[in-house]
Amino acid sequence: MTYSTGPILPRYRMPREGVHPPHDSPEYKSTRLRHPQQPLEFIPQRLGELTGPVLGEDRVGERDHDLTRQHDDEPQGQRIIVHGRVLEEDGRPVPNTLVEIWQANAAGRYRHAWDNWPAPLDPNFTGVGRAMTDAEGRYRFVTVRPGAYPWRNHSNAWRPAHIHFSLFGRAFTQRLVTQMYFPDDPLFFQDPIFNAVRDEKARQRMISSYDHSATLEEWALGFHFDIVLRGPEASVFEDEEDDDHE
Ligand SMILES: [Fe+2]
Repeated sequence: MTYSTGPILPRYRMPREGVHPPHDSPEYKSTRLRHPQQPLEFIPQRLGELTGPVLGEDRVGERDHDLTRQHDDEPQGQRIIVHGRVLEEDGRPVPNTLVEIWQANAAGRYRHAWDNWPAPLDPNFTGVGRAMTDAEGRYRFVTVRPGAYPWRNHSNAWRPAHIHFSLFGRAFTQRLVTQMYFPDDPLFFQDPIFNAVRDEKARQRMISSYDHSATLEEWALGFHFDIVLRGPEASVFEDEEDDDHE
């Protein structure tokens, strides 16, 4: 392994307690097996980490942001538009950031080898997309509303409908992962992933809002979801080791 040299770069402030989910959330059973048992040790970042791979805008294809146009026919389900901005804590937009999403289909099933519950796969839906933020930090996806799905974490356990989000900065060490939920989901009360975020206001920031101005007549419902990187209004981010299909 090669270590970078040069000055250590300043570290970001640690988030407030209660905003990000704890490493060990006993109600979320699989975290028992994969949360760190020892205190975390921060590896200093130097210029080498940040001048590594750079994600070029040309890697994003024309249909990557439109999950309803990646196959011969349209997927089943309620067509939706999910849009918002990526922002710094002072409201400055974050341009040229790669935003990736993955989600279950309208029946609540992922196209994933480990997902085999008896809900139908959709031959016209892969469930992954990506987009770059523009100069104003805006991103936009067209997709279908994902269904809820069971996950055996506890008795009669169902995940509320959600879309997974990943954001890259300008290097692979700058990745943030979160989930977006839909307003008024009746399954929030029993979901240990959603409720692992102890801070009520932070939980609310994971929920998108219905956006009538983004809704297209006779076409698709609009939902708005801003992602704030730091500060008191910061979005909730997950550890990457929890970044599976749950
Ligand atoms: Fe999921």
